[in-house]
Amino acid sequence: MIYFDQAASSFPKPPEVGKAMIHALNEVGANPGRGGHKLAKEAADIVVETRERAARIFGCSDPRHALFFANATAALNQAIKGLSWSEGDHVIATTFEHNSIRRPLEYIKKQFGVHVTYLPWNQDESSFIQEVKQSINENATLIVMTHASNVTGEVIPIEQTALIAEQYHIPVLVDASQTAGHIPINMREMNIDMLAFPGHKGLLGPQGTGMLLVNGEFEINPLMHGGTGSFSELPDQPSQWPEKLESGTLNTPGIAGMNAALVCYENRNHENVPRETMLTQTLLKGLKQLDGVSCYGSDQQKLRMPMVAFNVLDIPSQEIAMVLDSHYDIAVRAGLHCSPLSHKTLSTTDQGVVRASLSMYNTEEEVEQFLQAVQEITESYKLL
Ligand SMILES: Cc1ncc(COP(=O)(O)O)c(C=O)c1O
Repeated sequence: MIYFDQAASSFPKPPEVGKAMIHALNEVGANPGRGGHKLAKEAADIVVETRERAARIFGCSDPRHALFFANATAALNQAIKGLSWSEGDHVIATTFEHNSIRRPLEYIKKQFGVHVTYLPWNQDESSFIQEVKQSINENATLIVMTHASNVTGEVIPIEQTALIAEQYHIPVLVDASQTAGHIPINMREMNIDMLAFPGHKGLLGPQGTGMLLVNGEFEINPLMHGGTGSFSELPDQPSQWPEKLESGTLNTPGIAGMNAALVCYENRNHENVPRETMLTQTLLKGLKQLDGVSCYGSDQQKLRMPMVAFNVLDIPSQEIAMVLDSHYDIAVRAGLHCSPLSHKTLSTTDQGVVRASLSMYNTEEEVEQFLQAVQEITESYKLL
């Protein structure tokens, strides 16, 4: 099997990830922060170490503000729905948002009468920044944006956007689901106030993990209330972080796996262009040479995330993905990728796109086999 569906969930993982999870499950087992015995302390140490590591890597000033969630969606929901909204507040996002941002935004729109502007990504950084500036009004309360499109892999100029937001004192929430693990992110240096990401994509951690990192003193209301293992005498949710926003038993084996993934990430050589980026360039170049194949996304960006969106003739993308799976044993994702507005922008709503996404574990040989398969498929559809 050639696994080119890394943007959905990465596979395989570094062996250290599984080892750490099995250790947490079989050797530690206890509930972190719920008891004073040795095993509970060991479990709590795993959690604290992971918080500290994530905070260090992503430039979050206070590890207590590095919060664990089940995935990026839960982290984004907490950040968006946890803010105090008033009628007329204005949120700025892009047409590239995944439904894990768009649906919470649509929810607060209906629930509280918030206005949302979805700025189209027009592949030109300076005109995009101009649009951001123009869309800021006196009611602008939040800028929330994906760091990179999960359809085309194009990177949104978050740093420049956050600079403008700072001038207007508007907080910035970034969805780093497709960038964390692929490109360096430092919240402090990039003026990002809140950063959400999953553990299971580019960071190569396990499913069931995600984080929200918060810099600064934001008033975020919890979506969940319950046991925190501390302040048990209080009837109300404690105001201390992380307890305030983390009710219930944490996913300790998952967090242990994520910690191991973060260690591997820290140990990688960040000077070099990541292997998956180079492979993606070869893949994109090869696909562009095939007559009958259309590729989507800007050619101008040096920094594109390791995925390629394409279509074969006018064949539904799902059909191409099915042929790749059944005849060639190649896993890709097709359709709308939970981001319908992206497809409106790309004019691919009916056909969807085939998305091939890579990780550092993919190889040149796999890219060659993939190109050969797409060429054969294209030629055979041309004969029909
Ligand atoms: C840009 C983006 N945001 C959010 C998500 C949601 O991630 P999760 O499934 O971990 O909640 C995804 C998943 O594909 C994504 O690509």
